[in-house]
This record gives sequence, C-alpha cells and structure tokens, in this order.
Amino acid sequence: MPPFFSVERLTKRFGGLVAVDAVGFELRRDQIVGLIGPNGAGKTTLLRLITKILKPDAGRIVFNGEEITGLRPWEVVDRGIAGTFQNMRPFRHLPIIANVMVPLVAPRARRRGEWIKRIEAKAMDALEFVGISDMALEPAAALSQGDLKRLEVARAIATEPELLLLDEPLGGLNPAESELLAKSIRRLHKGGRFGRLHSEGPAVLMIEHKLKELMSIVDRVIVLDHGEIIADAPPAAVVRDPKVIEAYLGSEHAAA
Ligand SMILES: Nc1ncnc2c1ncn2[C@@H]1O[C@H](COP(=O)(O)OP(=O)(O)OP(=O)(O)O)[C@@H](O)[C@H]1O
Ligand SMILES: [Mg+2]
Repeated sequence: MPPFFSVERLTKRFGGLVAVDAVGFELRRDQIVGLIGPNGAGKTTLLRLITKILKPDAGRIVFNGEEITGLRPWEVVDRGIAGTFQNMRPFRHLPIIANVMVPLVAPRARRRGEWIKRIEAKAMDALEFVGISDMALEPAAALSQGDLKRLEVARAIATEPELLLLDEPLGGLNPAESELLAKSIRRLHKGGRFGRLHSEGPAVLMIEHKLKELMSIVDRVIVLDHGEIIADAPPAAVVRDPKVIEAYLGSEHAAA
C-alpha cells in the first residue's frame, strides 16, 4: 500500500538561497507530527509547498497514492488537505463566521450535499471548537492576533481534512489559551464528533516554537535546519539529540 502522505526530495530555491533542500519524509494517517527548527529553517516554505501556495523547483508530493505536486491550492483542499498560514489574511469586513464558511463552499462540501444552513452550522461548530463562537457575527477585523490564529484553525478544520497543516497555531495565545488549543488539536486528531463536524482524526503536521505545548501532544518531531532534515524521532529523543540542541534548542533548554 502506498504511504498516506509522502514528500520526496522536495526543493525550493529563492534566488541563491535553498530554502527547502531535497526534503523527504512520510506521514501516517494516525500520526500527529511537530515540525520545528530555527527561524528561517524553511518550515513555512515546506508547508506552503504542500498546500501549493508555492511551486517546488524539484521533488514530488504524494497523497493517498496520488501525485499532487502539480495541483492548484483549491484542488489540494478538495483532496482533503487543509492548512493555516503564518501570516493570516482574513476577509476583514466579513463576519467571523462568514470567513469560516468561505472554504466550505468548495466542491468538497458541495459533493456531500451540504448547503447554506448546514454550512453555517458547521462553521459555528468550528468556531466553538477553537473558542471564539461568541464573536461569530463581528467583523474579522475585530479579532486580536491570537484570536486570528484561532480563526485560521477554524477555517482549516471546518473542511474536515484528512491532513491538517498548522503553522504556529499557538502564536499570540497566552499560556492558558495555548494549552487549551493544543489539547483541542490533539483531541481532533484522536477523532470523534464536534457538534456537526465529524472527525475521523486528521493526520497533523504542526509547526510550533512553543515547545512545551507542542512536545506534550505530538508522537514525532521533524527538525529542519537550513532547509534540511537534521532529526526525525519521538519528542523525548529529539530534545536529547546533540545536533538539535546545537542548531535550535541550546543547552539551557535541553537541561530543562
Ligand atoms: N517568498 C520568499 N522570497 C524570498 N525568500 C523567502 C521567501 N519566503 C521565505 N524566504 C526565505 O526562505 C528561508 C526560509 O523561510 P521560512 O519562512 O520557510 O522559515 P521558517 O522556518 O518558517 O522560519 P520562522 O520560524 O521564522 O517562521 C528564509 O531565509 C526566508 O528569508
Ligand atoms: Mg515560519
């Protein structure tokens, strides 16, 4: 059987800089995986290659046995991959709930015979899941940085993806909020029902600098440095890896 998801020798250059350098890994459907590394390591670029916001210079991406390397962003969403972005650009003048409804108008939802009322209900469940449903009718411009992150997560999970890609979903949240959202992501991954959102538990690939929260919910951590994978192991092994300590964690963090 082909792997659930794989990237092979994926490469992206910006001028002379190789931001992602022949990266290869596989993901299993039942895994929640952290993606860490220093600033500029290429983490966001890697996610943007997968969601097709960026075009790779070389390499392949295979999802559910189908090569998706040449697809357009909405076609990738339609296959069941949804992601959040480090820089959020909501429709600022639309109500928060409308921002979550937009991706649901894609064929993926239409094929399931869903229409406005059900879409609205699902969008509301997604907002409830991230904890901002009480603000649903306010314009997105009213949201704080932290709440914008939550809106991004809501937009992604509302499409009920099989693979969920998150770029620093805890950024801008305080420690209590971070812990809560991290636990919710873990719960979503484990599967179950969230109001009208059914979740078979998407595989999750999550970039996050908040390591305490990240390490407590992931099964595996991929470490990127200068566009290359320098470690790929369970959290406990990664934090003790000398290469990772040198490139990213520092000895202080390792001691802690
Ligand atoms: N559109 C672009 N044009 C030119 N260079 C870019 C572009 N996007 C990213 N880069 C460069 O590619 C490298 C990797 O950037 P990327 O945003 O992927 O890093 P990152 O690991 O997500 O970092 P951070 O933890 O700070 O978010 C950096 O040197 C960055 O300056
Ligand atoms: Mg980034």
